[in-house]
Amino acid sequence: MPHPAPSANGARVLADLNALRAIGAYKSGVHKPTFSEPHLASLHWLVAKLPEAGLTGAIDGIGNVLTTSAKPGAKLLAGSHLESQNYAGWLDGPLGVVYALEAARVLNNDASVAGSVEVAAWCDEEGHFGHFLGSRSYVGGVSEADIDAATDRTSGRSMREALKAAGLAGVARQTAERGRHIGYLEAHIEQGRSLESEGLRIGVVTSIVGIWQYRISFTGEQNHAGTTRMAERRDAGLALAKFCVAIDQRFPSICGPRTVWTTGRITLDPGAPSIIPGRAEMLFQIRDADVAVVARLEAALNAMAEDVNAQGRCSVTTDCIRKGSPALMDSRFQQAIEAASLDVAGGKSVRMPSGAGHDAQVLSTIMPAGMLFVPSIGGISHHWTENTADADIVTGAQVYVETCRRLLAH
Ligand code: GLV
Ligand code: MN
Ligand code: MN
Repeated sequence: MPHPAPSANGARVLADLNALRAIGAYKSGVHKPTFSEPHLASLHWLVAKLPEAGLTGAIDGIGNVLTTSAKPGAKLLAGSHLESQNYAGWLDGPLGVVYALEAARVLNNDASVAGSVEVAAWCDEEGHFGHFLGSRSYVGGVSEADIDAATDRTSGRSMREALKAAGLAGVARQTAERGRHIGYLEAHIEQGRSLESEGLRIGVVTSIVGIWQYRISFTGEQNHAGTTRMAERRDAGLALAKFCVAIDQRFPSICGPRTVWTTGRITLDPGAPSIIPGRAEMLFQIRDADVAVVARLEAALNAMAEDVNAQGRCSVTTDCIRKGSPALMDSRFQQAIEAASLDVAGGKSVRMPSGAGHDAQVLSTIMPAGMLFVPSIGGISHHWTENTADADIVTGAQVYVETCRRLLAH
């Protein structure tokens, strides 16, 4: 009887994920903004683990952990990110990094596998300083001027200052060696409830949404909240609120079946109970896998802004601050994930688009890329209660390792 091929060690995967959860723990989740102490400690934790997988690696000048294997043969790039949204979940990011590490430990040390997995942790996927800064730097899409201009959206700290405090000022940024990798594989929690509601174990990602983001600024007139008659007011906050409602009335008739839009932050200036806001600002995001749909919604947004300006009470400007392209996942990667699911997850998989953004969409611009999802309990994510059943985490790790084995064999 041939020996079964070595597979993922589920207990080791869970132990690693819990070790990362203990770094920067917040309730049952974590608080690890980019370049915070717990984020940096997590990067160092990963670097210390690399020898177990026959990898050498370090943190580069933008905060990516990048690794190399000296084993001959095909090389697969694999990973995700280690920072989190503020006060958020423990699996968004670390799951994909730990799966990649596990695949490297299993396959790089297996002489019957003619190739290796090289692990990466991309910096700032969660967009504290920009968006996809680490993976975009790796593909050559971030300039020094971009870094000069980047600031932490919560604290206002400059990226230069954060890099210096992390000991990374002057450290070189690494870019991709073209042709080195056969492709990039990333695992992630689904962050929605499709898998859970259908009793499935694995999502085979077909596409990743494009994310377009806007800063929409209203200007009115700051004045006294007691003495200014209602008819005289030029309330920028009220204009913003009406604009949000108008978007929700206009978009449904012109969007696609999976388009989503979100006002994630509203700021009123000066933001005091006895003062009519003279200025108001909202950060607004549109997501869809079809650029034409987003472009149509953008045109509607601008037309609505023109209407507000024509009415004349308050003025409004819309600035597009992020135009992320959607991406298709490689068909061979989808087939490999599906075949691995058939082998080790009873075929309980489904092809599905990703409504969340992921570094895989950036990597897909320079190499074939694929993604697999595991179920999220209740579909909750970007919140500290985010969770996945241990059994699903272990199944996902097994599918991931088998997918890597298949990709390296071809
Ligand atoms: C990634 O976290 C996203 O916001 O889609
Ligand atoms: Mn993520
Ligand atoms: Mn996220």
